Amino acid sequence: MEKAIGEGVQFPSIPRYPPSTAGRLTWNASMPPLAICLLAAFSWWIFQSLPTLFQSMSLSTNGPNQIAWSPCADISEFECAFLRVPMDYTDPLPNETVSLALRRLPATAPVAERLGTLFVNPGGPGGSGTEYIAETGMDLSIILSGRYDILSWDPRGVNMTTPPMGCFPTDYDERMQEYKLHQNGLPFEMRATVGTDLPWFQRADRYYQALVESCARNGHQKMLKSLSTASSARDMVEILKALGEEERGLQYWGFSYGTILGATFAVMFPELVHRMVLDGVSHAAHYHENLFEWGRSAMDDSQKVWNGFVTMCAEAGHEGCAMARKGATVDDVRDRIEELLESLLINPLSVPYTESARTSGIVTASDLRFMIFLSLYKPGRWRQLAQWMVDAERGDGSAFILAPLLTDRRDMRDNIFHRYAARVGGPLTTVAIQCGDTDLSVLHANLSAEAMSEYSRELFRMSITGESWHIWVARCRIWNVTAIDVYRGPWSVEDGLRKTKFPILFVGNTADPVTPLSTAEDMVKRFGNASASLLIQDGYGHCSLAHPSLCTARKIASYFFDGDIPKHGTTCKSDSGFIFVTHEEAAERMDGLNEEDEDAVKALERLSESMIW
Ligand SMILES: *[C@@H]1O[C@H](CO)[C@@H](O)[C@H](O)[C@H]1NC(C)=O
Ligand SMILES: *[C@@H]1O[C@H](CO)[C@@H](O)[C@H](O)[C@H]1NC(C)=O
Ligand SMILES: *[C@@H]1O[C@H](CO)[C@@H](O)[C@H](O)[C@H]1NC(C)=O
Ligand SMILES: *[C@@H]1O[C@H](CO)[C@@H](O)[C@H](O)[C@H]1NC(C)=O
Ligand SMILES: *[C@@H]1O[C@H](CO)[C@@H](O)[C@H](O)[C@H]1NC(C)=O
Repeated sequence: MEKAIGEGVQFPSIPRYPPSTAGRLTWNASMPPLAICLLAAFSWWIFQSLPTLFQSMSLSTNGPNQIAWSPCADISEFECAFLRVPMDYTDPLPNETVSLALRRLPATAPVAERLGTLFVNPGGPGGSGTEYIAETGMDLSIILSGRYDILSWDPRGVNMTTPPMGCFPTDYDERMQEYKLHQNGLPFEMRATVGTDLPWFQRADRYYQALVESCARNGHQKMLKSLSTASSARDMVEILKALGEEERGLQYWGFSYGTILGATFAVMFPELVHRMVLDGVSHAAHYHENLFEWGRSAMDDSQKVWNGFVTMCAEAGHEGCAMARKGATVDDVRDRIEELLESLLINPLSVPYTESARTSGIVTASDLRFMIFLSLYKPGRWRQLAQWMVDAERGDGSAFILAPLLTDRRDMRDNIFHRYAARVGGPLTTVAIQCGDTDLSVLHANLSAEAMSEYSRELFRMSITGESWHIWVARCRIWNVTAIDVYRGPWSVEDGLRKTKFPILFVGNTADPVTPLSTAEDMVKRFGNASASLLIQDGYGHCSLAHPSLCTARKIASYFFDGDIPKHGTTCKSDSGFIFVTHEEAAERMDGLNEEDEDAVKALERLSESMIW
């Protein structure tokens, strides 16, 4: 999380927003209507005639081996399936269910070495697990010696899990709404050019209101109230049961928002925690209780990452970092970037249409700030970012332009799965889940644009990226749907948290732009030593994967395999030679490694590119 709010496969030339769903579809499109009617009728009959029986059945709708896996339509090494769960666990109705889209990569190790299923969540909220696992499953499996079936799913409201929220008929329309907001730039630009940023906040609030009204008019109202993290945690229990692994318990690796999901699972079902790695820790308690605090806590180390960019650029010199002139100091690099930002404020760059930009328009100082924000997540991209800045100095801003759309306006079922699926993500899922989870009364106490302007500047003083970040808090002020099923505490041992069956391993980088080490430390403290330990990775970027460390990967693997819990505060260094290095220097990383380590290092390098928020 949180998220990079949006990067994509082509990151970062075309930033993408968290995947979301749109379009109106009331049932699992892959199921023929007749079957649905029969099923509904049959369930309804049971429901009417045997209420008590149904009650007990509904609590265990999914028993072992209830998932009908088949090879995925897009990549046949993977298996796909759909699992039906109640839409509202507090009042399960046979005619109101959610069809969860699941995907897994089966284990490849000899049967005797296999350890069951490892659940993965890539964050967001709103990240498509099916997409993430399609992208990373093979590499995660290499790190974990092929011993797990690696599974992920599209959580409620996300991509192929249905019914969709339905606020917009297609992903195109949702993305378009976001694009218009993006055209507003960031507040600092208005302050610099107009002298006040208040109109920026007033206008932004109108955009958020348009989103809320789109959902109020067109959306699936019950679904919008059923997207909570608590409901997703219950879905995980259902998947676990259907896999027949309830007895062993959950094995889980969650990133970013996935740490909020994991922590919520752990406080609700401590007896089901068999292994849990929470990597890139976001503050689950603040997230649920006070989003202002959550926003602040996220920015603790952002500036440290930015300082890392500037410092390492200067150290790398001109060979490694295009923004470092010969003999440049750290201050020289910083000044040069400031100058570029200043010049863009007055003279935005014109970008003509090209195949690669896929659009034409202007590049502003806000666009550069936004790209810096995204780049802090991935130090492996810093070299590229520096080159793009130099291009912009020379008048070529094409790398910074945000293409308005990645797709045309099409039927959402027009895809290889013949099922509802999003081609591009928008921020709606993130907003709907996050704002539905949090206590809105806290946000409504500071509803004014003036208060938001002040808050945004507070975050901006903490970090160059603070203004990009504040938007995630600001949106929730205007949102007005709270989920039916929300976990409201306790959030610490003192307040009554129960001990988990096995200790959770929290993992935090020393410099992560949105999930700082301080949050990981606080979450460990809340869970207590009996339920948690902390592994620190000395490195940059969002989550441990962003700045590869063979040491971290090995510690995580041995935690999963053998239950080896690193002593609280154990520190791993990120591998050297990763940031601002030339291709030749990068190749040297393999020197002296045995075959197994070399495979792991290569897998980690690919994983460093993966889409985590
Ligand atoms: C499902 O059944 C309940 C109980 O009869 C009813 O109130 C509700 O409107 C139905 N929902 C849908 C989506 O048809
Ligand atoms: C939705 O899921 C499909 C299948 O996993 C994937 O190909 C697609 O990229 C996903 N869409 C988004 C926006 O994540
Ligand atoms: C939320 O706001 C919209 C638009 O202002 C309104 O139509 C809708 O009824 C509201 N929903 C709730 C749950 O208050
Ligand atoms: C919200 O309002 C309270 C009381 O006026 C104030 O203390 C707080 O700083 C305000 N702003 C934020 C963003 O929390
Ligand atoms: C217990 O946790 C605290 C942080 O919450 C840590 O400082 C301490 O070293 C831990 N003790 C042990 C024995 O791990």
